[in-house]
Amino acid sequence: MRAIVITKPGGPEVLELRDVPTPEPARGEVRVRVRATAINRADLLQRLGLYPAPADSPRDIPGLEFAGEVEALGEGVTGWKAGDRVFGLTGGGAYAEQLVVHGRTLARMPSNLDFTQAAAVPEAFITAYDAMVTLGHLGSGERVLVSAVGSGVGTAAVQIARAIGATSFGTARTAAKLDRAQQLGLDHGVVPANGKFAKALEEVIQRETGSSGIDVFVELVGGPYLAEDAICAAPRARIILVGMLAGNVADIDYGLVLRKRLRIEGTVLRARPLEEKIAAMQTFARHVVPLFAPSREHPLVPVVDRVFPLADAGAAHTYVASNDGFGKTVLEV
Ligand SMILES: NC(=O)c1ccc[n+]([C@@H]2O[C@H](COP(=O)([O-])OP(=O)(O)OC[C@H]3O[C@@H](n4cnc5c(N)ncnc54)[C@H](OP(=O)(O)O)[C@@H]3O)[C@@H](O)[C@H]2O)c1
Repeated sequence: MRAIVITKPGGPEVLELRDVPTPEPARGEVRVRVRATAINRADLLQRLGLYPAPADSPRDIPGLEFAGEVEALGEGVTGWKAGDRVFGLTGGGAYAEQLVVHGRTLARMPSNLDFTQAAAVPEAFITAYDAMVTLGHLGSGERVLVSAVGSGVGTAAVQIARAIGATSFGTARTAAKLDRAQQLGLDHGVVPANGKFAKALEEVIQRETGSSGIDVFVELVGGPYLAEDAICAAPRARIILVGMLAGNVADIDYGLVLRKRLRIEGTVLRARPLEEKIAAMQTFARHVVPLFAPSREHPLVPVVDRVFPLADAGAAHTYVASNDGFGKTVLEV
């Protein structure tokens, strides 16, 4: 099969399309003919040699999500047959024509999506739902703040927030991305000034909702944003730290954390044990996939920004690193 291989740690030029052996499914596993995959920041870090693949994934083929067709079944797999249209997450190896994953980490693709659209869904929507609802317990009528709201995860989070009846707030470094997020259901947006947004946001929260603060944070930026989150948090708010695009050090007022009784929880999907990945996938299949039904008033939609052929994975990495994107960048295989 053909796959994109990280030939050595480095820039986008180290990604090469090569012939590699086709993987065989072991017991409980399924081989998927990948039709599309999408880029994640973790892939860029892996390419640089800063984020090695987990032990059970290919060492040098990046790719954490995919959409495609079931091609072959390992012993003991039930529930799938050749030709089923599936999508899902993997620890690596999705920049390839074929991929082997555990059968219970797959979900059936919504019938109204094509492979390119479906490949833009798993990482963004599973991460957003897991952080916001499973870990953050966001409820109807509550307020959620999504930082970097124009990101893949951000554009999924605002849509899910609307679906469960929460009021969403978002940050982005350009007003244009906030405008686009509003078309997906974002209720209120703020452009941070030098990493600061708490004061401006508190005014918006007070004016628009009359309430004291934000209940759940989907924190994708990290760095100085965590201290701002603590300032505009409601009592007993849940800050779920998902990404650290702006750095991994925070200077937080512990007094706020104590007095407001805040919970700060970090999360990562890729490093979870298989049982927990299966649980996150089953939750996604049950609670999120049905929300893509076009009969709904506001169906969830994949946000596909740019599409590249697999061979141009390097150019796709360069585009994602530019921060110009809105939603997901997809590779067609
Ligand atoms: N924990 C997990 O399991 C998990 C899973 C998926 C993703 N993630 C993490 O979540 C984050 C978002 O991922 P994604 O794939 O959705 O991202 P993405 O689509 O690549 O978008 C990231 C956006 O963040 C903004 N940004 C970049 N650097 C920034 C900075 N220094 N300060 C403020 N904003 C910045 C940019 O938008 P603006 O220019 O508009 O600000 C950029 O478009 C990443 O850190 C990723 O690694 C974690």
